[in-house]
Amino acid sequence: MLRGSEGVARAVELLHQGECVALPTETVYGLAADASDDDAVGRIFTAKGRPTNHPLIVHIPSAEHLDHWATDIPSSARLLAEACWPGPLTLLLRKSASTSYAVTGGLDTIGLRVPAHPLFSAVLVAFGSGLAAPSANRYKALSPTSAEQVVDCLDGRIAAVLDGGPCEYGLESTIVDLTGEVPRIVRAGPVSRQQVQAVLGCPVEMPEEHDVIVPGNVRAHYQPRTPLIMASLEEMTGESLPANAGYMIFSAQARAQLLALGLAPDEILQLPTDPVGYGKRLYASLHALDQLERDVLVVEQPPTDETWTAVNDRLRRAVG
Ligand code: TXA
Ligand code: MG
Repeated sequence: MLRGSEGVARAVELLHQGECVALPTETVYGLAADASDDDAVGRIFTAKGRPTNHPLIVHIPSAEHLDHWATDIPSSARLLAEACWPGPLTLLLRKSASTSYAVTGGLDTIGLRVPAHPLFSAVLVAFGSGLAAPSANRYKALSPTSAEQVVDCLDGRIAAVLDGGPCEYGLESTIVDLTGEVPRIVRAGPVSRQQVQAVLGCPVEMPEEHDVIVPGNVRAHYQPRTPLIMASLEEMTGESLPANAGYMIFSAQARAQLLALGLAPDEILQLPTDPVGYGKRLYASLHALDQLERDVLVVEQPPTDETWTAVNDRLRRAVG
């Protein structure tokens, strides 16, 4: 485990040697490697056990690096970069000729973002080029939001983890596809559709199911090991509750209802009632509930208004 400025220097050294290093971002921990070194990129796929046709997001030090990795860059990309970077927004653009297909999973497009975590920024500035970084979990496992979760998942498979504390957002970046006629959100995240529309001054599409058929954007990526079901407050009554379940709720009513049914407080994880606070705790809570080794996880259905889109998207996928 690496820490502080010495940790940053060591991480940069390892990355220059073609190794994989897990780095903190403001969204989730990423497993980074030199994006212009195909062997280094290959080590990411090996460490994660991820199929090599799944595209990786390339993290760059600043928007000035866009032209190295992408071509035919529309003005919408410059506007979003100016407004949202560094931050939890990934732009899909046409890849440049020099960008390797190893990093794009064979696609002609590339995902790019400037992350906001100070330690990742420090690594990028010292490294001076792009770092490919998918979430730092084994293929199909939940994304890690703390350095300890990365160690649990990838210990022995990667060179090092740089500890940057718990992630600020806890959910992966919003992905906007700018390669079509109309900008399209293909993964909901911390930056909302309204924010993207406000910056661009035009309508932005957001397919309800986000099931744009790109390898790597599949439901199974966001599932805990324990089967998960969603239930409304009304459904969480005595007759319908499964045996040997763990609970993840947010409302005080649900808590009162479950305690009245005789459940122990440690079987009930209570999340914040606001979407940002809830999102931040979501993966860590699913990890914790998995550790209980119950037969099933019951999740209280959160509100469905648009501020909850990213949370509901991850929960829908967690149900599978
Ligand atoms: O917040 C995040 O975006 C985190 C942190 C580490 O930056 N990264 C992340 O990477 O979530 P990953 O690999 O777990 O998810 C990236 C997803 C891919 O699964 C794929 O669906 C989509 O981004 N993606 C990447 N490049 C793409 C491309 N060229 N075309 C379409 N989709 C792409
Ligand atoms: Mg992932």
